[in-house]
Amino acid sequence: MLWGPAARLCVFLGAVIVGFGTVAAFGTPGSTTVKQSDAEAIRARVKRAFARPKAIPQPPDNPITPEKVALGERLFNDPRLSSNGKISCASCHDPRLAFTDGVPTGEGVTGRPLKRHTPTLWNLAWARRSLMWDGRSESLELQAKEPIQNPDEMGETLERIVERLSRDPEYKAAFASAFPSDPKVRADNLLKALAAYERTLVSPKTRFDLWVEGDENALTEEEKKGFDLFIGKARCINCHTGFAFTDHSFHDIGLPSEDDLGRGPVVGLERLNFAFKTPGLRELAWTAPYMHDGSMETLEEVIRHYEAGGVDRPTRSREMPSRIDLTDEERQALIAFLYTLSSENPPKPSQEFSLSKRQASLETASGDEKAVATATVSQRNKEFTPGHVVIKRGEVLTILNDDTRTHNVRIYDPRFDFNSGAQEPGETITIALPTTGTFKAFCGIHPNMELTIEVE
Ligand code: HEC
Ligand code: HEC
Repeated sequence: MLWGPAARLCVFLGAVIVGFGTVAAFGTPGSTTVKQSDAEAIRARVKRAFARPKAIPQPPDNPITPEKVALGERLFNDPRLSSNGKISCASCHDPRLAFTDGVPTGEGVTGRPLKRHTPTLWNLAWARRSLMWDGRSESLELQAKEPIQNPDEMGETLERIVERLSRDPEYKAAFASAFPSDPKVRADNLLKALAAYERTLVSPKTRFDLWVEGDENALTEEEKKGFDLFIGKARCINCHTGFAFTDHSFHDIGLPSEDDLGRGPVVGLERLNFAFKTPGLRELAWTAPYMHDGSMETLEEVIRHYEAGGVDRPTRSREMPSRIDLTDEERQALIAFLYTLSSENPPKPSQEFSLSKRQASLETASGDEKAVATATVSQRNKEFTPGHVVIKRGEVLTILNDDTRTHNVRIYDPRFDFNSGAQEPGETITIALPTTGTFKAFCGIHPNMELTIEVE
């Protein structure tokens, strides 16, 4: 039987409601009989949340063009960006190894082991404020400076690279065609080209995508059962959601290593110690070892960690079940499902997007949402609702944590700096904005949550 006993289905429904508010309408929490057709409807509905995007998001000031991407790819693979002329971005993010390096921690120009595992670079166009394991980089444009200048990675200065590349006629021509209105070999152009190239590193279609698109035969029964566990009993969907299988947020999943505090010090919140960003799960077959410290070799090891629940400490995410009981068969099914997110041959970036056409802009999130005149905002299901408000000058904005998770409301603005600290479920915060104008708030734990506030 496809769906197992009704009791299991109830667990499944409950979990979907926790993880995925939009699905709640389909099930009745706590009901004891769930018709097979309802269950099928939920599977179909949840599946849609993993559908591939139609376009690559890009910032308005750095549109993706084929010329820029070609230049970025060349820079990415060029060891002349390092102090000893031997290390390129690709030395650690090897395109032949799914943009990773296959070791727990890599090494750069000094040969000293790095502090953290090299992450793969798939699907970062969707990451916004959650770059690096601790989210300290705000954009791909800014991120690229870090490995170049890090003494243990490439150990070089942008000035010296610009000087070196300016003497190369081929690079001069490539910069000129990538930046026709500003045809210079310059540091900001170099960072823009690298970022534009990285945005095109979209993981290719796999059997899972064919299934989501409607081909029922693309997955085996075992793999489909693994999907049911992923979105149900095992609660993986609580954090690994969407096409890239990440919520772009930070969680402590209870890994035993305690020498790296992760997100905590970046946002100045102890509640977030040991929290790291949720990595995407695409192409896992090619990206072992796993985790920020590269401590796990196999997917079986990863799943056994979630089954046991990890180290129980105050910072451990509330979205982590403290224990999951899986049979050997279920564990195998979950692993089989995870493999459907990987290519059968070494993966190459997807070619499904046309780079010459102007595509979706990054600024579409909350800025484009219709403004609502209200001074009260909800944070249910990791979303500010409404996402765009208008208030009067002098009016106080109230933000409720009516969610099941801790949030952290922040405004980084030269006119006004705000940090709510850890805002636990049930807590309300108020913000008195000092002046008229438009302000952007976001959550330090779930940075894709954004709120636009207009003060009139
Ligand atoms: C010596 C190895 C090494 C080199 C060289 C290197 N990286 Fe990395 N990269 C890493 C490590 C390790 C991290 C994780 C660092 C952290 O989170 O603290 C990382 C993180 C990243 C991230 C963030 C990924 C994510 O999932 O958030 C991006 C983007 C990135 N690197 C791009 C680049 C680019 C572009 C270059 C070349 C300019 C480069 N890297 C060179 C090792 C390297
Ligand atoms: C509370 C949120 C949360 C839940 C629930 C969760 N994960 Fe994760 N997952 C993370 C975070 C955060 C990391 C990175 C942790 C680190 O490195 O410190 C991670 C890492 C992973 C990795 C390693 C990926 C890599 O590239 O290093 C895999 C595989 C994975 N999770 C699979 C799963 C599966 C399967 C489930 C369900 C059994 C699951 N996760 C449930 C948040 C979560």
